[in-house]
Amino acid sequence: MYAFMKLFSALSVLALVNAFPSAESFGFQRRANSTPTGGSICGTKQFILANELPADINNDGGAPLPKPNTTYPVYTALSVGMQNYTCGADSTWGPLGGYTFLFDISCLPQMHHAPFTSFIAALWDAAPPTVSNEQIIDLFEQVNPGTALGLHYWIADPNNATDGKINAVWDFTKSERYVNDTNRANAFLVAAETGNVPDPKNSTVNSPWLYEPILYVNGKKDGQLADEVYRFNSNGGNAPNNSCFPGSVLQSKSTLNFWLFGGAWEDTIH
Ligand SMILES: *[C@@H]1O[C@H](CO)[C@@H](O)[C@H](O)[C@H]1NC(C)=O
Ligand SMILES: *[C@@H]1O[C@H](CO)[C@@H](O)[C@H](O)[C@H]1NC(C)=O
Ligand SMILES: *[C@@H]1O[C@H](CO)[C@@H](O)[C@H](O)[C@H]1NC(C)=O
Ligand SMILES: *[C@@H]1O[C@H](CO)[C@@H](O)[C@H](O)[C@H]1NC(C)=O
Ligand SMILES: *[C@@H]1O[C@H](CO)[C@@H](O)[C@H](O)[C@H]1NC(C)=O
Ligand SMILES: *[C@@H]1O[C@H](CO)[C@@H](O)[C@H](O)[C@H]1NC(C)=O
Repeated sequence: MYAFMKLFSALSVLALVNAFPSAESFGFQRRANSTPTGGSICGTKQFILANELPADINNDGGAPLPKPNTTYPVYTALSVGMQNYTCGADSTWGPLGGYTFLFDISCLPQMHHAPFTSFIAALWDAAPPTVSNEQIIDLFEQVNPGTALGLHYWIADPNNATDGKINAVWDFTKSERYVNDTNRANAFLVAAETGNVPDPKNSTVNSPWLYEPILYVNGKKDGQLADEVYRFNSNGGNAPNNSCFPGSVLQSKSTLNFWLFGGAWEDTIH
């Protein structure tokens, strides 16, 4: 429990930053109280994706990350949780989804995003090794609910439940922030994955950086939360690079950032 408490204390810093009146003096504008639902807590016009992605990010192989279609993200999130892996018939680990909790870091200046994410990763890695989804939710909900955006998990391919593929979901529908939002039921998205490049610092232990555009199902976008998601600043999350026993499973702790662009809450950007 002690290691968890340290993690919660650190995450509570986010609630403090959000509540700190002089955040505005750094140029961070909080949303007016009259519009408390949906969108980010602080303005996101300060955030530049190109400053997070090294200029040569697409030079080390993989499928390149394209530029976003809109200038500013709607959400900037810290993701803390688990990635699951299963051992295939070829004795190598393959992804089997996972479960992570998402926090709003829009009130932290961009220069602090990557170091804060690594700081949280060190505390999360020091916490007990195996955690169930229920524990992740119970424990993280103790952190000021105002900074909790929602959950990230994977589902079977909505376009073909039997092809064995999985798709990522970002789900804010249960977050307190959306409790009064009239479009709450659509505050999620299911994405495809078309960009995937190795982590620039340590591709052995850190999960790849991704570009995940919204998935179309029967010609319609699957969700309205956003149209494009970028995953980067990975800390851990990969399976060990060793041969495994077919059928076995493992969990790997993952701490990283997601930025979401486009979607139905774009008009909340300020
Ligand atoms: C990931 O693993 C956890 C714990 O083993 C399990 O509760 C969860 O359902 C798994 N998620 C997926 C998508 O397989
Ligand atoms: C779904 O995937 C299975 C397995 O790959 C394939 O045999 C089937 O044709 C697919 N169905 C559709 C509708 O694409
Ligand atoms: C939702 O609306 C209720 C009733 O007006 C209010 O008391 C509550 O603070 C609101 N919650 C949020 C998160 O905006
Ligand atoms: C990546 O991390 C592993 C585990 O900490 C370490 O053994 C390895 O040397 C690192 N590789 C690079 C390129 O830093
Ligand atoms: C995994 O190990 C193999 C063999 O040692 C090596 O060729 C490969 O580059 C490693 N992959 C990663 C992602 O580190
Ligand atoms: C981004 O814009 C390109 C070019 O207009 C378009 O082809 C693509 O579908 C857009 N991506 C998303 C996720 O909307």
